[in-house]
Amino acid sequence: MARINANYNKLAAGYLFPEIARRTAEFVNANDGVEVMRLGIGDTTEPLTQAVLEGLHGSVDELSSPDTYSGYGDGEGKESLRKALADRYGERGAQLDETEVFISDGAKSDSANIQSLFSNDAVICVQDPAYPVYVDTNVIGGRTGDAVDGQYEGLVYLPCTEANGFVPEPPSEHVDLIYLCNPNNPTGAVATKSQLEAFVTYAREHKAVIFFDAAYSAYITDPELPKSIYELEGAETCAIELNSFSKDNGFTGLRLGWAVVPQALVAEDAEQGKLNTMWRRRQNTFFNGPANIVQDGALASLTPEGRRQSDEMVAYYKVNAKTIRDCLESIGLTVYGGSNAPYLWMKTPDGIDSWSFFDKLLSETHVVGTPGSGFGPSGEGFFRLSAFGHEEDIARAVQSIRDNLKL
Ligand code: MLT
Repeated sequence: MARINANYNKLAAGYLFPEIARRTAEFVNANDGVEVMRLGIGDTTEPLTQAVLEGLHGSVDELSSPDTYSGYGDGEGKESLRKALADRYGERGAQLDETEVFISDGAKSDSANIQSLFSNDAVICVQDPAYPVYVDTNVIGGRTGDAVDGQYEGLVYLPCTEANGFVPEPPSEHVDLIYLCNPNNPTGAVATKSQLEAFVTYAREHKAVIFFDAAYSAYITDPELPKSIYELEGAETCAIELNSFSKDNGFTGLRLGWAVVPQALVAEDAEQGKLNTMWRRRQNTFFNGPANIVQDGALASLTPEGRRQSDEMVAYYKVNAKTIRDCLESIGLTVYGGSNAPYLWMKTPDGIDSWSFFDKLLSETHVVGTPGSGFGPSGEGFFRLSAFGHEEDIARAVQSIRDNLKL
């Protein structure tokens, strides 16, 4: 008789964003004619840049002729794209080559799959709150006990609080794998160089590995703040970086991201090169590489003109972030993030819990956001608003918050 992976039973009933969609649909069905404004999931709304469109069209045309048609690509992605990405790290002082870059169908998949490189008894450390994928995939992988009061037994949580500016210090105990998201989803906080240095030092001392999710790095415009973990000396020996074309080029639907697994990376029982080889093996076994068309679109986004256009897209969403932040502050709410990140992290008024605030915001203003507690226990009492949206929709949403939110 087949038996299930019982670790699934430990998971909270639904993944956070479908749960928000379900509750929103319930509200819409019960309130005929009401139009909700969605500042919940961080999904891009602006059209692809001209450069990307040209890259995509060119690639489609190539598939239309027997002379230029291509079928299966490399499991690790097109060499030209891997090289272009490696070169971009070079501009920030990190020495990487194309063998260390692996193209995927997105940072979500990579952040879910990367744990499979490590032993089942690895001790996992996450920021709290955290992107739910980090925790859920380790629960499914059997690295935790049950959830007790919102925390899984066996996981090490690093609370991100107002007191530490939402950037925690490295753990005080030994851990093996550390998930860091920077700029942070959900808090919008960004670590300074010395704060990241502390994690790199910790990881090297403990032979731990950092998974550095940099999917929002394009939103860092403060030149003092590192965009990549590899800007820190020695990070190539202890960190895997994940990134994406979703948030700076609008690829949330196209799907494309990459992982950097440096040749210099080591673990307790892995010499240099071993983890790189293992990830190549993993990708070639589970995956045939992303769509060639999408990769050509991404390559076009990395030309000087493509990068200029992508910077414009990021700047557009950053204006939205400022609009939301200004509104919330103007009505007396406490709000963090949004300066070098597309997420605003606000304190719920009068200490009401995150899901109650979700209901209040939806019913009073028709704005959908994301309850902080959905990202972990330290998110309780906070609420995330996303700056991804059309400028005019953001303007309508903030107007409604200003006019209708009862404080
Ligand atoms: C979010 O809203 O947190 C993001 O959309 C997550 C994601 O990119 O998968």
